[in-house]
Amino acid sequence: MINPANRTKKITYAIRDVVEAAKKQEKLGKKVIYLNIGDPLKYDFHTPEHMIKSVENSWSKSSSYADSMGLLEARRAISKEAKRLNIPSISEEDVIITSGGSEGITMAIGALVNNGENILTPSPGYPLYQSTLNYLEIEMNEYFLDEENDWQPDIEDMKSKINEKTRGIVIINPNNPTGSVYSKETLLKIIDLAKEHNLLIFSDETYDKLVLDDDEFYAVGSLTNEVPVVTINTLSKSYLCPGWRVGWVVFSNCNMEYVNAVKQLARARLSINHPMQYAVKPALEGPQDHVEYMKNELRKRRDITYNRLNSIPGISCVKPKGAFYAYPKINVSIESDKEFVLDFLNEYQVLFVNGSGFGQKPNTFHFRVVFAASEEALNTAFDRLEKYMKEKYS
Ligand SMILES: Cc1ncc(COP(=O)(O)O)c(C=O)c1O
Repeated sequence: MINPANRTKKITYAIRDVVEAAKKQEKLGKKVIYLNIGDPLKYDFHTPEHMIKSVENSWSKSSSYADSMGLLEARRAISKEAKRLNIPSISEEDVIITSGGSEGITMAIGALVNNGENILTPSPGYPLYQSTLNYLEIEMNEYFLDEENDWQPDIEDMKSKINEKTRGIVIINPNNPTGSVYSKETLLKIIDLAKEHNLLIFSDETYDKLVLDDDEFYAVGSLTNEVPVVTINTLSKSYLCPGWRVGWVVFSNCNMEYVNAVKQLARARLSINHPMQYAVKPALEGPQDHVEYMKNELRKRRDITYNRLNSIPGISCVKPKGAFYAYPKINVSIESDKEFVLDFLNEYQVLFVNGSGFGQKPNTFHFRVVFAASEEALNTAFDRLEKYMKEKYS
């Protein structure tokens, strides 16, 4: 008998954990509508052709390890992107290319926080943060997003959670799973808190290009020249290639000791995949038509999702403003949103993800919908949900 380490026991990832149940439905010969996974390629979006060409053309020069910090031309393109976002004084030395934003998150947090210390993470939030903290054996310290206030971070709650062991604050903007886009005012308040308590801000801006309405997106690094910020981003979503595993971190106002600690972690893992890094410069500097196309499509699908969900008795949903996620609330009496999601899947073959996988206020229940699916799939899913709610709860 080989016992796995304790640190693995708390690692869950609701987005994929529910898939097992969907596979069982498929084994029974039923067709499942998957609205659980935030991969736009699983729906009808495609990687831009010029990015595919740039990777194809790189094969003969990319069989070696890449530089541990990442391909120079890609790091330069990312530093120019930081300038476009008004993040001051960024050069390629402030950029590390990582295996998706995911690896950037692990390295940036791992290089900062000791056992016994904590960082503030959003609830609800992207579950990778919980798993990473569990893996690193770092204490969870969650602050709430406020559903009554368009899912903006609850600054008072955040303030009340800071203690002498807190080292940083994670912000996900635009947000997964709620689709909220944070106002400048909210971000400035968080920056003030970080300044007052000497905290580093991890700003996960994975969905920065997918702001669907007129809201302005502000990179946190553009709003302060004092508070240390690690900006996390990726090609995965806005550039439609999550399987390529290319993301990055950008350091603003961070001291060299910390930056070097993250770089040391990057050296220790040698390099990320080499060929895919050739897509970064063409992605960031080449045609951006696919982003406009994607936003137009997502806006239509968001509207369907928002209108349909709010028309179902027992369900309410704050309007998502960015990314491709909605986080509706279940207003009928239930014991567990996981049971709700699984029961609906078993009866109607539509897969959502339970809110307990992302976090929520006690005694509230939610589920996450990925609205990157086609209008037809979304409408069918909501027809079925409407029927289910009527049968079970009216
Ligand atoms: C908020 C957020 N951050 C980071 C990631 C990780 O993305 P990747 O590792 O593919 O770059 C995701 C993926 O869904 C995400 O939603």
